[in-house]
Amino acid sequence: MKAAKVTNMKGSKTIRVGDHPKPSITQPNEVLVKVLAVGLDGTDREIMTGPYGEAPSGEDELIFGHEAMGVVVESGKEAGLAPGDLVSIVVRRPCHDPACVNCRNGRSDFCQSGQYTERGIKGAHGYLTEYIKDEDRFFIKLPEACHTFGMMAEPQSIVEKVWDEVQHIQQRLIWEPRSALVLGSGPLGLLAALTSRCLDLNVHVWSMSAPDSPEAKLIEKIGGVYQQSNAEGGPSSLSAYAESIGAHFDLIWECTGYSPLGFEAMDVLAPNGVLAMLGLSAGGRKSEIPADKLNMEMVLENKCVIGSVNAARKHFETGIYRLQQMESRWSGAVTSLFTKRFTLDEVPQVDFNHIGIKAVVDVVPVEQWKFGAAAGETAYSFSV
Ligand code: BGC
Ligand code: ZN
Repeated sequence: MKAAKVTNMKGSKTIRVGDHPKPSITQPNEVLVKVLAVGLDGTDREIMTGPYGEAPSGEDELIFGHEAMGVVVESGKEAGLAPGDLVSIVVRRPCHDPACVNCRNGRSDFCQSGQYTERGIKGAHGYLTEYIKDEDRFFIKLPEACHTFGMMAEPQSIVEKVWDEVQHIQQRLIWEPRSALVLGSGPLGLLAALTSRCLDLNVHVWSMSAPDSPEAKLIEKIGGVYQQSNAEGGPSSLSAYAESIGAHFDLIWECTGYSPLGFEAMDVLAPNGVLAMLGLSAGGRKSEIPADKLNMEMVLENKCVIGSVNAARKHFETGIYRLQQMESRWSGAVTSLFTKRFTLDEVPQVDFNHIGIKAVVDVVPVEQWKFGAAAGETAYSFSV
């Protein structure tokens, strides 16, 4: 079967679509899934063109892609999924360290040993291929209504985990959040903004995109406020922006991975607020920060900063419902994030500078599965 791989992972990377053995079920709890579509994100960009990512041990190439939607084509006799089920799949796989209490309890997103693998990212092949196989517990069944955006369950799970964590943390007080600030207007930032609006928070988005960009327009459509960070004549910094609107924020989502901004954001966090850092920064950036000022504010105003990565199964589940809520509140909000589509063969030509908001790879062309089964594979026909 075909697969999109980054070859020469430790040297000068190249992307190619090549052959890879098709997996088959060997255990009664396993499921074989035909991949329909895979979303690409900033992590894929870092894997394809930057220093991030790790091939499976003993190999030099990695099948990437970690935001998948597919359909079950075969299931082992003890598996809790049936052929025809539309599914999404979690990314991380637990480590084997008996002392890692989180991996031993279904929460590899809090792996303590660091020996976890991530399919398509770290030490395990991913989903940009025709078929994938895994234990049933790693798949999440999607309602048919999600068939146009099911691959967003993964990025949305990242947002849901943060909201889940914030709710736990804020049990420390009586918290009635009113405002959220989102840093960045990439797919993750937009999902954070959409989620914050679903939670009825006032939302401000601070990002480099132009005010007439599709992302800025989407923020306005959902009732948020968009501010271009580098606008000519605009606020000179995030702190200046907060001052100009006379507001600090109860919840801040750092989704740029531009690390100096994370520190700047501490300054515009409201008393008792939470700043969540979600963006990856694989570079070696250094910056000077007003350490005493930030320290003082953090202490005197009970501010909290958390880092958050990956997500658990339950976050996919809440994510699936949230995505549907977004679509029903603002029709087309989720699908409008897909500004570029590629076939599997076209993956080597993906240029992240020209994809708009988000690229999706249609591993099976939409016409072939949306309205019925592809030739010879009746199991994945579902009607719309
Ligand atoms: C993925 C996560 C993963 C993280 C770090 C993100 O793009 O969505 O599942 O844990 O990258 O590798
Ligand atoms: Zn672990």
